[in-house]
Parts: sequence; structure tokens; C-alpha cells
Amino acid sequence: MSSRLIDGKAVAAEVDDSLKPRLEALRSRGVNPCLAVVIVGDDPASHVYVRMKGKACEKLGMSHRTHALPESVSEEDVFSLIDELNADKEVHGILCQLPLPPHIDERKVTERIDPRKDVDALHPYNVGHILLGDPLFLPATPAGIMKLLEHTGIGIAGLHAVVLGRSNIVGKPIAAMLMQKGVDATVTVAHSYTRDLPDLTRQADIIIAAVGKPLFVTADMVKKGAVVIDVGTNRIEDTSSEKGYRLVGDVDFEAVKEVASAITPSPGGVGPMTIAMLMNNTVLAAELSLNGTRSL
Ligand code: GUN
Repeated sequence: MSSRLIDGKAVAAEVDDSLKPRLEALRSRGVNPCLAVVIVGDDPASHVYVRMKGKACEKLGMSHRTHALPESVSEEDVFSLIDELNADKEVHGILCQLPLPPHIDERKVTERIDPRKDVDALHPYNVGHILLGDPLFLPATPAGIMKLLEHTGIGIAGLHAVVLGRSNIVGKPIAAMLMQKGVDATVTVAHSYTRDLPDLTRQADIIIAAVGKPLFVTADMVKKGAVVIDVGTNRIEDTSSEKGYRLVGDVDFEAVKEVASAITPSPGGVGPMTIAMLMNNTVLAAELSLNGTRSL
């Protein structure tokens, strides 16, 4: 059996197209969405992600600003910048690229962002509303995963989804979204303390792999016909590559594609969707700024 490839780039292009009429409507009212990204320190992978977010804005004709702060910046200075961005009417979405250096409290930074500009959906206000099934924003990666699952055409209701990883960015919110009324999956969240993991994953109709470990999900862990979504992008050493590394997912794609009914590649699966859904959230934030109906 060879599985159907879920093409994240193609689905992301569809999302981009759906944003165009909304962007036109905003512009006709004198608003062009603007995303402000805060990045602290020199982590090369984080800088790559931030550049990709800026380029995605440019492709849609949206504005963006990058505030690159040195590793040595104080927590107070990060707070002051966020306060300025919160107050700035020209800025619609604010995102602080994670991880932050250890002397800066990620939780406090996240809570400083106005929930109405929180396009990452990491503020406790937004996390709470996601759990309640009444979201303002959905976090970009889980929202992208849901779109990819929709795209496969499988009916999710009643299926067993096993989520590997319990991060605040992916594992916890995707579990909440899959179990929501109307989606109706039966959800198991596995993590590093889970026992007999292959036994568990072999019961899954849907596997969401978000553990950050290269090639972690092997073919023997996957039931025939399961749908496999690979959230990982891991750098592994590759001396034959110019860069000295190559990117692989959390799933052993070549082997698992022979077992799964549908599978995302990585790169080229969830990654492009994350960016597209971030653009969607930035457009939504600009719409909210005009309609201003959501009081907190
Ligand atoms: N670092 C890795 N993924 C993310 C993300 O989705 N948002 C932010 N802000 N930082 C990240």
C-alpha cells in the first residue's frame, strides 16, 4: 500500500487565496493588516522562521515589523516593547518568537500581549476560550493540522486520534480541538512517560506527531490505513549537504507512507500551513480591530 500525500503547500496556497477578498475588504476601509514579531537572541532556526513569516506577509501585501532584540535584553525592556505594540493602532498582530532566553519569563511575556492581538493564541484568555470551544484565535499549527485533516476528506467523528507530545503550542491545543463538539474525535495524548507507546499508536486512526525527535514514529507503530500528520522539523547532520544538515520530521516518512492511508511530508506539510494560518490570524486581528466587538 502506498499512501496519499497531503500537500501542505497546496492547501496553504488555498488558504492564502481565501484571505485575498478579506484583505481587499479591509483595504477598502483603509486598513492593511500588520504583524509585529519580537525575537530575542541569535538562534538561527528561530531567525529562519521569523524571516519566513515576514516573507509570507509580503507575499500577501501585508505589513510586518521585526523587532530583533539582543540576547542580553532585560525582561523589562521586552515588556515595554510589548506595551508599545499593544497600544499601537497600526499593529494588529503581535508574536514573540519562542524560545526566549532563560532570564526572560515566557509566561509573563505571553500574558503581556493584548489577547486581541495574540495571533499565536498562547495568552491564557485565548487558551481558555479554545478549551471552552469558543475561540477568538486558534493557534497556527493546530489550526493548520485541522485544515489538512479536513482536506483528506475523512470524517473525524468517533475516530481515535493519538497526539504525541503535550506542548502548549501544539499537543495540548490540538487535543482540545480534536475532542471539541462537532469534531468529535476520541483523543489520547501521549508523552515521554507513556508506557507501551507502540501499542497505543497502533490503535490510532489518526496520529499527530509533535515530539521534536527525528524519525521517532516508525512503520511498526502505525496501523494500516491510519492518517499521519508530522509536525516535526528536525535538523540532522548530513555531511553531503552544503549546509551540513538536512531537515526531517518526527515520522520515518519513507517507511510509514507504505502503511498510512494519508501522510504529510516534512518539510512541505504542516510547516506551510502554520505560516498560512498565522496570516489568517493576522487578518482576523485586523478585522477585530475594525469591528471591535469582542470585549474581554
Ligand atoms: N517557536 C516554535 N513554534 C512557535 C510558534 O508557533 N510561535 C512562536 N511564537 N514561537 C514558536
